[in-house]
Amino acid sequence: MRLEVGGKKQSVRYANAILRFIGRFYEGMEVYGSTFFESAEVDSWLDWCEMELSSPPPQPEQALETLEKHLDQRVFLIGQRFTIADASVSVALHHLQAQGLAASLPRATKRWLGTCMAHEAFGAVVKGAKPATGSKAPAPAGPAMPAASASAPMAPKAASDQPLLDRYSNAVGGRIEIKRIIATPDQGQSLVGKKVSVCGWVKTAREADKGKIMFVQLNDGSTPLDIQVVIDSAAKGFDSLKGKVGTGASMKCTGEVVSSPGGKQAVEILVKAEGTEVILFGGVDAKEYPLSKKGHSHEFLRSIAHLRPRSNLIGCVARVRSALAHATHEFFRTNGFLYVHTPLITAADCEGAGEMFQVTTMMAEAEKDGKQMPMVNGKFDYTKDFFQKPAFLTVSGQLSVENYCCSLSKVYTFGPTFRAENSHTSRHLAEFWMIEPELAFADIHDDMNVAEDYLKYCVSFVMQNNKQDLEFFEDKIEKGLIKRLENLLAEPFARITYTEAIDILIKESPKAKFQVPVEWGMDLGSEHERHLAEKVFKKPTVVYNYPKDIKAFYMRLNEDNKTVAAMDVLAPAIGEVIGGSQREERLDVLDRRITEMGLEPQDYWWYRDLRRFGSVPHSGFGLGFERLIMLTTGVENIRDVIPYPRYPGHAEF
Ligand code: 4AD
Ligand code: MG
Repeated sequence: MRLEVGGKKQSVRYANAILRFIGRFYEGMEVYGSTFFESAEVDSWLDWCEMELSSPPPQPEQALETLEKHLDQRVFLIGQRFTIADASVSVALHHLQAQGLAASLPRATKRWLGTCMAHEAFGAVVKGAKPATGSKAPAPAGPAMPAASASAPMAPKAASDQPLLDRYSNAVGGRIEIKRIIATPDQGQSLVGKKVSVCGWVKTAREADKGKIMFVQLNDGSTPLDIQVVIDSAAKGFDSLKGKVGTGASMKCTGEVVSSPGGKQAVEILVKAEGTEVILFGGVDAKEYPLSKKGHSHEFLRSIAHLRPRSNLIGCVARVRSALAHATHEFFRTNGFLYVHTPLITAADCEGAGEMFQVTTMMAEAEKDGKQMPMVNGKFDYTKDFFQKPAFLTVSGQLSVENYCCSLSKVYTFGPTFRAENSHTSRHLAEFWMIEPELAFADIHDDMNVAEDYLKYCVSFVMQNNKQDLEFFEDKIEKGLIKRLENLLAEPFARITYTEAIDILIKESPKAKFQVPVEWGMDLGSEHERHLAEKVFKKPTVVYNYPKDIKAFYMRLNEDNKTVAAMDVLAPAIGEVIGGSQREERLDVLDRRITEMGLEPQDYWWYRDLRRFGSVPHSGFGLGFERLIMLTTGVENIRDVIPYPRYPGHAEF
């Protein structure tokens, strides 16, 4: 279907009616906004477009001014994605331009129009539209509107015997993701009578009516919800299933969406009539398959890390993990931060804690040649090594990203980091992912503001986009999770200095009975951190201005000469999720701190250069990505929120 609004018969009202229909039909794609409030905003923009941009516009200058003001700090009209509001307003504006009624557009509106015109939905709506000349706007992130292409129909087809094809599934003759059927507000009711093809892995299968019917719960990972498929013995392919369709088998089912007579789900798929069929891709020998329909312990699942994404728990974690990574990029991008890739192999120990994994080829080469490792003066001769000096896996990208910060102002890095600490706790990994923003012209308070905004953005993103996953965690992992997340969003985080924290903890000591007694100068242990966040403030708590002796060399020395402008964000149930600081920008103070810590200033020559040439106040922090996932899901062990956990003695898979 093509909607032409370029000709004389153009009517914003009709265009909007059709866009509303498309928006509702493709509910899962969130082109109608991803929350109730966003949908209301979409509606009001559609109405505005109808009133203000219909040809000829009643007050074109005023309309353009409104639009420019609104778009000044935004990528899209509403939220973080292209919606039908963008489609409607951009098409109307494009049309006015074509008529010469809105000849020159102001900056933000022009950029936004370029972004919209580069979107495939625009091309689908305006026949023959080309991206705005001179516009370099990239196609925006987020779900694409359905467009006409070889593999995906542009809009719903009228005939109910046509399957609703998903993109990129030509290999199996087209399929629809299961979430598009059942994870929708009407739980699939509007699709009743349609023919669909779904593919996935069997969660459970059982026979009924003396083997004449088979009930299969199928999941394809697009949602935690399974779809029930009822396969009648009359269906094509039924006989090939005998004895092969158990938990874990993979198959394609083409059938009709019907209302489900059982109370559990609103709709199911019936494979019975002519033109429907089942195809078994890979069968499973139930005796061999390690996952059964009953629940498994998290420890057991870790031992089958290659198959555990098929469990409900790890499936939900994977979806939330992906959403949080997406939210991270979205937050920083929309706030003007640039994504910088920092090296994983480095010669500098950022934290100065000596917990680094060494990267060397000397050992393998000596072993291959049956020789000793090259030595000089009783020490390994690293000039013979691959990098001609000792090299390590990075513990943090901070030092490298600081260089970019001191020319690009606002940057962040997001990648894996490695720590060779012999920790066997539920909060430590040897390989974990870290997000490290760095801001120029910012002090410790600006740093805390970004940290709080970013954490809240991530939590609200998951609450909006991963409802069903969160319901699973609420049900199976942590009762009260959703309330806890709502509370996290509701109030400002607590902010106290280290000295205030120590005072509080000393007062609480008789009652709290800490294992390690509290005194000024100590590093806070997990019991102290959790007590502050869980018992005292009952919400995320930022502690700042720590004693200099327990913190890294790069943190800015405060006026008192005793503390540094460091901050940690402590979360209930987890403890430290974020560690950051204002950086020492004064070369003489930095050199003193490096030496005090027993490090060599010349090892940090390039880091010191930043303080020699155009030094500026700047700040940053590191957020442990896995700890953020624990916070958002309630999962208690960090080994269950990363696909393949690495910790002492474990590097399998
Ligand atoms: O507090 P950390 O060590 O800070 C840094 O590495 C700074 N260079 C960051 C910066 O300012 N750019 O680590 C930051 C965060 C911690 O708050 C914690 O959430 C996480 O990284 N983290 C770990 N997560 C899992 N396993 C480990 N072994 C971790 N060590 C730190
Ligand atoms: Mg820390």
